[in-house]
Amino acid sequence: MAKASKKTARGRAAPKLAKVGPGELVTLLDFVRYAVSRFVEAKLAFAHGTTDPVAEAVFLVSEALHLTPDQFEGFAHARVTAAEGKSILDLIHQRVTTRKPAAYLVNKVYMRGLPFYVDERVIVPRSFIGELLDSHFGGEEGAGALIDDPTAVGRVLDLCTGSGCLAILAAHHFPNAAVDAVDISKGAIEVAARNVADYGLDERITLHRGDLFAPLGDARYDLIISNPPYVDAEGMAALPPECRAEPKLAFDGGADGLDVVRKILRDAPDHLTLDGGLICEIGRGRELVDEAFPELPLLWLDTEDSEGEVFWIAAADLG
Ligand SMILES: C[S@@+](CC[C@H](N)C(=O)[O-])C[C@H]1O[C@@H](n2cnc3c(N)ncnc32)[C@H](O)[C@@H]1O
Repeated sequence: MAKASKKTARGRAAPKLAKVGPGELVTLLDFVRYAVSRFVEAKLAFAHGTTDPVAEAVFLVSEALHLTPDQFEGFAHARVTAAEGKSILDLIHQRVTTRKPAAYLVNKVYMRGLPFYVDERVIVPRSFIGELLDSHFGGEEGAGALIDDPTAVGRVLDLCTGSGCLAILAAHHFPNAAVDAVDISKGAIEVAARNVADYGLDERITLHRGDLFAPLGDARYDLIISNPPYVDAEGMAALPPECRAEPKLAFDGGADGLDVVRKILRDAPDHLTLDGGLICEIGRGRELVDEAFPELPLLWLDTEDSEGEVFWIAAADLG
């Protein structure tokens, strides 16, 4: 009798990977090619630190070999040992059979070139705000700056901080700022605390557990950053397995996706300084937000991979 195949959590049969014989795969690049073939065959989703199967495979192979992403090219044609090959194949197998994001398998993701610890208590960081901090907030390019002098920013708030990635990037961008970061999830605050400590930022970033502005009293900020949950009910029902491995709380924005965004827009004026501003990611709900808040002159910001998914509004325009 044929052996029963193992079932995934949702009842589907987990895909089986054919055995790789000794010496069939030799170099790092061989393993990347093999991984790409398996990932495409299994129709994986890529949205968690990488956006295509090649980048995903390079990330996993590099992590298995303790190489940083920019070291990969130099070693692409190097041979791997049998033990290393086994570790790589194990990761490829886990990625295909569990459908968990690669970042959870190795507890790491890179955002704007910086590594962050992640596990299933937090969404895998991929906010467009990371890029916008560089392009519009006195970063590398300087053009189109929404804040002229990053050194003059005294207080920053990261609402819905998750792993703490945006709070940490903000602390780097605004070298004189004290940063508050809030999340309602205990697990997220624990992960954020680990990242803040890893970056030696305990003195500059204060983590608060609570509902949006509730733990902050009447504090005011020069800049509020937020990547809140913003997926609508239809989107929640269609999340790929990779996203279902992430905390629901990180996605669920209610029926139209805007439950949390509305609260942020309602309460932000009470927490901004006169010259301050709010930057908020809302995903694909731009039309809904424009319709719901016609009086607000929201400035929609684009990034390399997004169009009109993040807005900026100055405190003076929030009323
Ligand atoms: C989309 S994730 C963003 C995480 C992180 N800022 C990032 O960009 O990777 C949203 C986060 O908001 C948190 N959250 C959801 N509702 C909240 C609320 N009412 N107050 C504070 N945090 C909330 C979730 O726990 C989750 O960590």
